[in-house]
Amino acid sequence: MITINRHYDKLHANYLFSTISRRVAEFQKANPTANIIKMGIGDFTKALPAACITAFHRSVDEMASDATFRGYGPEQGYDFLREAAARVEFTSRGASISADEIFISDGAKCDTGNIQELFSTDSVVAVQDPVYPVYVDTNVMAGRTGEWSEGRYGGLVYLESGEENGFVAEPPEIPVDLVYLCFPNNPTGTVASSATLERWVEYAKHHRALILFDAAYAAYIRDDALPHTIYEIPGAEEVAVEFRSFSKTAGFTGTRCAYTVIPKRCRAFAADGSERSLHELWNRRHTTKFNGVSYPVQRAAEAVYSAEGLKEIRSLADFFLGNAKIIREGFERLGLKVYGGVHSPYIWVRTGSDSWEFFDRLLSDAHVVCTPGAGFGRCGEGYVRFSAFNARSAIEEAMARIERVMTAEGT
Ligand code: MLT
Repeated sequence: MITINRHYDKLHANYLFSTISRRVAEFQKANPTANIIKMGIGDFTKALPAACITAFHRSVDEMASDATFRGYGPEQGYDFLREAAARVEFTSRGASISADEIFISDGAKCDTGNIQELFSTDSVVAVQDPVYPVYVDTNVMAGRTGEWSEGRYGGLVYLESGEENGFVAEPPEIPVDLVYLCFPNNPTGTVASSATLERWVEYAKHHRALILFDAAYAAYIRDDALPHTIYEIPGAEEVAVEFRSFSKTAGFTGTRCAYTVIPKRCRAFAADGSERSLHELWNRRHTTKFNGVSYPVQRAAEAVYSAEGLKEIRSLADFFLGNAKIIREGFERLGLKVYGGVHSPYIWVRTGSDSWEFFDRLLSDAHVVCTPGAGFGRCGEGYVRFSAFNARSAIEEAMARIERVMTAEGT
């Protein structure tokens, strides 16, 4: 008899964004003429930068001739892309990351999920609450948690984040083995200062823990004093892995390209306490289970780091930050408390009401989709998240509808 991985039975709900898209599809079916504006999942809505398109075309043409055709590439990614990423994202900011510490992949979501297979199933895992659900669900699947009860999984350490700490968790009093941090944060849009990250690096060193640092939204940081990578913090290269993505930076949500940084000095431990190189372990995993991102996609991603590409991605992020400002100001006019949206494409709004009820009300009365805060954890209840990824006219129309509906209802 083939038996299933029993831990899948613990998953208390479907993946958050699948549930939302199912509910929206049902609403659209029942209301075919409704012009729904989607501000739920953070999906890019602008064309790929022209520099990427040119590189794409050129590399596809290379595939058309035997002389320049490429078959299997290096599983870790082509040097041209790894070198460009190391130079632009890390060494330029004083972080000493080299090209061979970068592993190109097809997504930060996949990497944040896959990396946990390197760690023992009895590792104690900490996540912020509210949290990007992938960190939690993949650890449930792996058997690193207990059962679901009262809105949480047993065995996980939830670092409560709310207005009192500005949605930025401090290291806990107790030791944990693995901690997921995400800054600029998904879902709250908040950012961490160098001082906060220093305390986390110190904590990880002290407890021989590992930080999994998701920096998928680093391109939205507009204050140069804020750390853009955790490797700006001295010592982080021993205790932190960082995830980056081209999705929210250059519109690769459909094209797929990302990378994970694992410094050679980053370590984990065997049961007897002896040190192991995470770089070697991930390299072993990556070469066994992954065959690389396609050559044209890597050439297109490399073009992000050209002078023209950098200019284009800056203006794309500026555009979405402009949308974020409109959303922030709209909710502020309605008298609601708003977080994020300054160094992030996500705006976190306190509605004070049941977040799934608010989601349903907004969908049915304004035909606007948001993401209910409760989907990100117990501390997300009473909040909803808005994504700034949409056309300017759609954002303006959505905010006008929301203002109309909420003013009429006296919310
Ligand atoms: C989000 O909306 O939180 C993200 O787009 C989901 C993802 O990146 O997987």
